[in-house]
Amino acid sequence: MRTSSVALLLGVCVLLLSALTVCAVSLSVSPNLQQFFTAASVSLTCEGQLGSDGWTVKRDTGSGTESCGAGGRGFGRFNGSSCLFDEFEPISGVYWCKGEAGEKSEEVNITVSDKHVILEIPALPVRTGSDVTLRCKKKTGGTAAAYFYFNGRLVGPKSEKNITINVQQSDEGLYWCSTDEFGSSPQSFLRVRGQITDITSCLKPIC
Ligand SMILES: *[C@@H]1O[C@H](CO)[C@@H](O)[C@H](O)[C@H]1NC(C)=O
Ligand SMILES: *[C@@H]1O[C@H](CO)[C@@H](O)[C@H](O)[C@H]1NC(C)=O
Ligand SMILES: *[C@@H]1O[C@H](CO)[C@@H](O)[C@H](O)[C@H]1NC(C)=O
Repeated sequence: MRTSSVALLLGVCVLLLSALTVCAVSLSVSPNLQQFFTAASVSLTCEGQLGSDGWTVKRDTGSGTESCGAGGRGFGRFNGSSCLFDEFEPISGVYWCKGEAGEKSEEVNITVSDKHVILEIPALPVRTGSDVTLRCKKKTGGTAAAYFYFNGRLVGPKSEKNITINVQQSDEGLYWCSTDEFGSSPQSFLRVRGQITDITSCLKPIC
C-alpha cells in the first residue's frame, strides 16, 4: 500500500516535471555576443513562455547572486522583461532568468574586457548546420587579423580576419583569438544545439 502510493506520487512528480520542462524560457543577449569592451551597451531579455509570474535577470560575478534593478544589491535597470545596462557598465559573470516560482533558464556567460581585443562569438547556442563567423575585434574599432584557437588547438595555418564554421556538435567548446600586435582575447564557450532539443531550458523544482 505504502509503496504503491509512493510510486503514484513519483509518477505524478515525473508528469509534472515533464509538463513543466516545456516552459523553455531563455535569456537573450542583445547584441547576441558573449564578449564586450567596458562601457558597451547591452540588454538582457527573458524570452519564451514567461507566464504570469514575475521574471527577472540574475547574475553571479563571483561574489554572490544579484538581481537586475535591485538597487544596492543589484545591477542594471529592469524594464518589462529586459535588463538594460545603459547607466550601468556590464561586468563579467554568469547571467540567467529566474521566475518567481523558481524556474530558471540556461546560463549565459558574459565576459567584459578592457584589453585590446575581444572575440566576436554568439551568446546563444547555435544550431548544427548553421554558419557561425568568429572575428577578433579591436578596441579601437575594426577587425584584427588573428589566429583562432579551439579547445587549445590552432584552427587554420595562418592569421585571418575571420573564420566561418558550419557548425557540428563537435564544434562545441572554448574559443579565443590571438594577434601578434594586440595580444589575445578572453576565452568563451560556444554552445551547440541539435535541431530538435529546445525544450529543456526551464526546470521548476517541484518534487
Ligand atoms: C521600457 O520598455 C517599453 C516597452 O518595452 C518602452 O516603450 C519604454 O520606452 C521603456 N522604458 C525605458 C525607460 O527604457
Ligand atoms: C561559464 O564559464 C564558466 C567558467 O569559465 C564555465 O565553467 C561554465 O561552463 C560556463 N557556462 C556556460 C553556460 O558557458
Ligand atoms: C572574412 O574576411 C575576408 C577578408 O579576409 C572578407 O573578404 C570576408 O567577407 C569576411 N567574411 C565574413 C563572413 O565576414
